[in-house]
Order: sequence, then C-alpha cells, then structure tokens
Amino acid sequence: MIVKLMRRLRGQPAVVPTLASLDAYQKWATTYPPQAHNALMQLEQQTLTTMLPAVHGKRVLDLAGGSGRYGIIAREQGAAVVICIDNSADMLAVNPLQERVQAHLEAIPLPGESVDVIVCALALGHLPQISASIGEMARILKPGGYALISDIHPFVALTGAQRTFAVGSQLFAVEHHVHLYSAYHRAVTAAGLTIDVVTEAVLSRETQPAATNLPVIIVYRLKNSG
Ligand SMILES: C[S@@+](CC[C@H](N)C(=O)[O-])C[C@H]1O[C@@H](n2cnc3c(N)ncnc32)[C@H](O)[C@@H]1O
Repeated sequence: MIVKLMRRLRGQPAVVPTLASLDAYQKWATTYPPQAHNALMQLEQQTLTTMLPAVHGKRVLDLAGGSGRYGIIAREQGAAVVICIDNSADMLAVNPLQERVQAHLEAIPLPGESVDVIVCALALGHLPQISASIGEMARILKPGGYALISDIHPFVALTGAQRTFAVGSQLFAVEHHVHLYSAYHRAVTAAGLTIDVVTEAVLSRETQPAATNLPVIIVYRLKNSG
C-alpha cells in the first residue's frame, strides 16, 4: 500500500483509476505479502503491536485480515485460537492461517461474546460507514476484550492521497472513505464500547527524509468494559 505522499516523491502520476475494494484485492492479492511491505505499514504495525494486549492463550480475530499479517503475529504470540475473516476470496486464498472465513465486516459469522481480541487493520477506510462493523465487533467481543483498529490517518486522505498498488506498469487506487475521530466516537459509544487508547503516528524523518510532521496512521484501541 502506497499513498500519494510517497508517489509524489517518486514522480509518479497523481491520478489513477480507483477500484472498489473487492475488485482491487482481486488484482492485488497475489502480490500482497502477509508482512508490512512499506514504510506506512511498518509504522502502523509498530504502533498497533505496542497497543496490543497479551494474546497468549486467547481467542483472536484478524478481521479483514487479508493475507493474514496480524493472525500470524497472534499465532506467534501464542494465541489459542486465531480466526481470519475477509470478504475477498482472493486474499484468503493467499492467507496461510488455518481458520479462514469469507464474510463481510458488517455481518461477522461468530457468536456473541466469543472473542478476546480483534485486530482490524487498514480496512475500515474501505467502508462508507463504520457504525455497523463496530457494532458487530462489540457484539462478538467478550467482556474485558479489546478491538484494535488501524487506518490511514484522515489528514492523509483529506490532502488527496490515495491507497495505490501496481499491476505491472499500471497503478490502481483502492476505494477509501475518511472517518473522523467524531465518527469513531459516535459509533463506539453507540455500540457500548469505550475508546481506551488512540495513537496518531508520524513517519520518522530519519527513514523518510520527505516526511512531514502530520500523522499518517491512526490506531484505536476499544474496550468492552461490560
Ligand atoms: C489493506 S488490506 C489489509 C489486510 C490486513 N488487515 C493487513 O493489515 O495486512 C484491507 C483488507 O480489508 C478487506 N476488506 C475490505 N472491505 C471488507 C469488508 N467489507 N469485509 C471484509 N473484509 C474487507 C480487503 O479484502 C483486504 O484484505
């Protein structure tokens, strides 16, 4: 995933065709590794893993897990059960985790109060609305459980940046919707969860000399205190 911020640095064109999420990941899946594969994802992963509660022995859901990056991390950290849900059959086909389920973020096929920790990384921006998916997370989280949600920071998208990927020499952008903090606060409160921690992460000028001091990644940790 590359944003315009980075494309500008490489002198690449600013306008590219934008695809709906399912179409985009159908094209992208075979080259989407289950590791952080650019500076933004490295920053996101470093930020999110710092906020991740202990998953050893827990039931973990990698929601919109794609090729399985966080499910693999949870498994390495000793999670008892790791389930990955994604609506893209193409992404699930390259995902090495055992328990993979094709489903939509807004209709999670798991029972209520059945998961200790949810990680939903870099996905909610693909949805026009976040309230239904956050409602589903609240439904399946056990009391005392946590949901970690990351996304491209609204500042990045609001300055016109897009999430892009290349197929050969053709660049494509993926549908992205901006969700401000106020939208998260509303959705989380309506779902009966609380926003426990929020981190807004900035790229380091040491590794990205053209980085600005604007945050590029936002990570929310939600808690089911019920
Ligand atoms: C940027 S990728 C991130 C994948 C993975 N979470 C990671 O961080 O490596 C976004 C993922 O969200 C999935 N996705 C997008 N919309 C979805 C929806 N409505 N329901 C389920 N998954 C969705 C895509 O198929 C894709 O795998």
